[in-house]
Amino acid sequence: MKEKSVFDLAALPPTFVWGAATSAYQIEGGVTADGRKPSIWDTFCRVPGAIDNGDTGDLACDHYRRWPEDIALMRRLGLDAYRFSVAWPRVMPDGVGRPNPAGIAFYDRLVDGLLAAGIRPFATLYHWDLPQVLQDRGGWPARDTALAFADYAATVAAALGDRVTDWMTVNEPLCCAWIGYLEGRMAPGECDLARAVPASHHLLLGHGLAAAAVRANATAPASVGAVCNLSPIEPASDSDADVAAAVRADGHVNRWWLDPLFGRGYPTDMIDTYRVAPPVRPGDLEAIGAPLDFFGVNYYFRQVVADDPGGPVPYARQVSVPGALETAMGWESHPVGLTELLVRLAEVYGATSIYVTENGSAWGDEVGPGGEVEDKRRTEYLELHLEACAAAAARGVPVDGYFAWSLLDNFEWAYGYDKRFGLVYVDYLTQRRTIKASGHRYAEVIREHKQRRQEG
Ligand code: FCB
Repeated sequence: MKEKSVFDLAALPPTFVWGAATSAYQIEGGVTADGRKPSIWDTFCRVPGAIDNGDTGDLACDHYRRWPEDIALMRRLGLDAYRFSVAWPRVMPDGVGRPNPAGIAFYDRLVDGLLAAGIRPFATLYHWDLPQVLQDRGGWPARDTALAFADYAATVAAALGDRVTDWMTVNEPLCCAWIGYLEGRMAPGECDLARAVPASHHLLLGHGLAAAAVRANATAPASVGAVCNLSPIEPASDSDADVAAAVRADGHVNRWWLDPLFGRGYPTDMIDTYRVAPPVRPGDLEAIGAPLDFFGVNYYFRQVVADDPGGPVPYARQVSVPGALETAMGWESHPVGLTELLVRLAEVYGATSIYVTENGSAWGDEVGPGGEVEDKRRTEYLELHLEACAAAAARGVPVDGYFAWSLLDNFEWAYGYDKRFGLVYVDYLTQRRTIKASGHRYAEVIREHKQRRQEG
């Protein structure tokens, strides 16, 4: 007999959307195909030492050619929805101006294929692959980049917005601004607070302008949201210094993004901390804070922080938690943190529809003798985080869907191909795909939930 769920997802609404997520540069490959030009990630991958093992996204999962096979995998998993990103350097290789019909045609095929398979496409407009030419003109610290992003968004919405109804603007502005322009660990690899703060503002402005552009150009009804990666923050001790550090870290990681997106403007304590004000012009905060149809949260870990007066902004150092279960990324598995974030979004920010747009874990997967991948720890992580969603739903939080990160093992940015997050294992030598045990478990959970939905 089939094993029943050990956990209770009954609180999830009957309309709950079951999905998986990917992003263009991490899976597509085909970096010079059909007129695509370089993005900041193509450039960053060439910087010696920037990426583990010198890996690049040149081939990745070869999804640009293998997408039909990948849609077949989604069907086997029983997904309702697939979250992917559109590559700006494919659609508008020069960043601005003339769209590239061959680049758009790829997403036409993908969207048509998804719809034919009964899978709802959730399109992200920006998952970190800024056309290099725009970085050369100043990148996100330059206001023009936000304006260019809105034009590109209008183009994509005009092309796909007769069929795509679910849109996300910028994925994780925190990573783009803080990791890309402040910490330098991601493209474009800059370390300059005086550029990172304007970058953060222009990413948010780009979001607001793009949301309006999608609504104006899509012909089917468009549901538009923002996607932020958030972490609950806790002080390492109850000392005043650590508690204050936790407030700053929460400002840096969460409030800097949530406050303006929910119409509250930038948190002034953080402007004091940065000593750099975002270059806000009249109308910007209204564009950024315009109501959204949903909010997307990417959740991976919480942060426990201690005061770090001599360190970089926000002068709060993440400390490790004794006895914590850590994934291969060194990220603590802390499912209740997801419940806390969902409750906070609903109760503090008033979010009326929330999707978990990413959640998942990397482990040292091993392929068994028969080719099977028994990824027990990923399965446990998945179940615990789904339970965390259900716990939030039971408290009245409008959690409308969950997207596992990721459909496939893929190019994990600066970590290259070593860190595997997929529900599906990818053998990079042969491009052979194998559904892992966690993928089979996810399919079973989806089936059970749908069955319950039918029963009642
Ligand atoms: C998120 C990114 C996604 C992936 C996961 C592990 O920050 O949005 O592309 O790399 O982390």
